[in-house]
Amino acid sequence: MVKIHLEHVTKLFGKVVAVDDVTLTINEKEFMVLLGPSGCGKTTTLRIIAGLEEPTEGEVYIDDEPVTYLPPKDRDIAMVFQNYALYPHMKVYDNIAFPLRLRKYPKEEIDKMVKEVAEMLRIEELLDRMPKQLSGGEQQRVALARALIRRPKAFLLDEPLSNLDAKLRVMMRAELKRLQKELGVTTVYVTHDQAEAMTMADRIAIMKDGKIQQVGSPADVFNKPVNLFVAGFIGSPPMNFIECTATEKGDQFLLDAGEFQLDVTCFKDIIKKNATSSELVLGIRPDNVMVDRERKEGLVAKATVYVIEPLGSETIIDLAIGDNIIKARTLEVVDLKMGDEVWVGFDMERLHIFDKKTEKAII
Ligand SMILES: Nc1ncnc2c1ncn2[C@@H]1O[C@H](COP(=O)(O)OP(=O)(O)OP(=O)(O)O)[C@@H](O)[C@H]1O
Ligand SMILES: [Mg+2]
Repeated sequence: MVKIHLEHVTKLFGKVVAVDDVTLTINEKEFMVLLGPSGCGKTTTLRIIAGLEEPTEGEVYIDDEPVTYLPPKDRDIAMVFQNYALYPHMKVYDNIAFPLRLRKYPKEEIDKMVKEVAEMLRIEELLDRMPKQLSGGEQQRVALARALIRRPKAFLLDEPLSNLDAKLRVMMRAELKRLQKELGVTTVYVTHDQAEAMTMADRIAIMKDGKIQQVGSPADVFNKPVNLFVAGFIGSPPMNFIECTATEKGDQFLLDAGEFQLDVTCFKDIIKKNATSSELVLGIRPDNVMVDRERKEGLVAKATVYVIEPLGSETIIDLAIGDNIIKARTLEVVDLKMGDEVWVGFDMERLHIFDKKTEKAII
């Protein structure tokens, strides 16, 4: 099977650094997602793997063989672009058969393979239609079938679900993930949608400004983000950030946020060892913010309910603590209303602390 490796890959377009010293291994049969905001270099990285772009520096390896200067057709990799174009004048059947006809496969074999892949993608009923008679999601699946039919060594997908409506998108996520596992084909999937990345990936590589920030399983990047960027990019609603200053009061080690102080004596040594100054950022996910009308143990800050966002099965409570607005998420019934005074606490086991200057995670 197939392993893909990028070794110190950099790509310049004039003065623009599209990809900046990327080293990344995509393991055999792995579903790797490249995730990051617009312009961070995802498509360029994918095109370098496909051979559509030559890196300015660095090497690309497929199964430990250097392929950096090998043309795309010799890499046996299928790429589905964001704007997958079907041939409008050909029936679905002929669209899917096209790559095999190009390679002069015998007719019977083509027929067998088209039917096989159509069954896999549940588009058997559509083979006689023209592309314009298909919905967006159906067209999407035909494009995937056309890419899959020649059993490529690896699959490169560039935001393949971006043209679909929200519901279909969620459905196709699951379908694609199932298909990838069934076929066991090494896959690199590009998206800027963190929810898509979290639900589909074996591992996620998070990019910003051409650089990889962190590579890890969805649980890893969610629970142990290495810096402020990753912490803020993964998770919805995003992690709350509160700027604070580390201060010592006797034996106590405190984070002073102005409106409240949080005792973090238990983290004193690690903060002292790793922080470049006393300026820190407290990070806490909405799920780990506790809210109560009464001041109970562990609740540290006084807050005002700013707004309540009911979402059916869960509720987001926006809380004003001085100038900071933070979000809490709860699955319980909320009997609070705008303007109510409450007490807020943070789950200390789920606390993140970042260095304000370097933006790196300390805890
Ligand atoms: N052919 C090109 N010529 C010049 N600059 C380019 C070219 N292709 C990409 N770039 C620049 O390189 C950077 C990375 O582009 P890339 O398309 O890889 O980003 P992306 O992460 O795929 O973004 P998006 O999510 O918007 O698709 C951007 O600043 C872009 O403007
Ligand atoms: Mg792109």
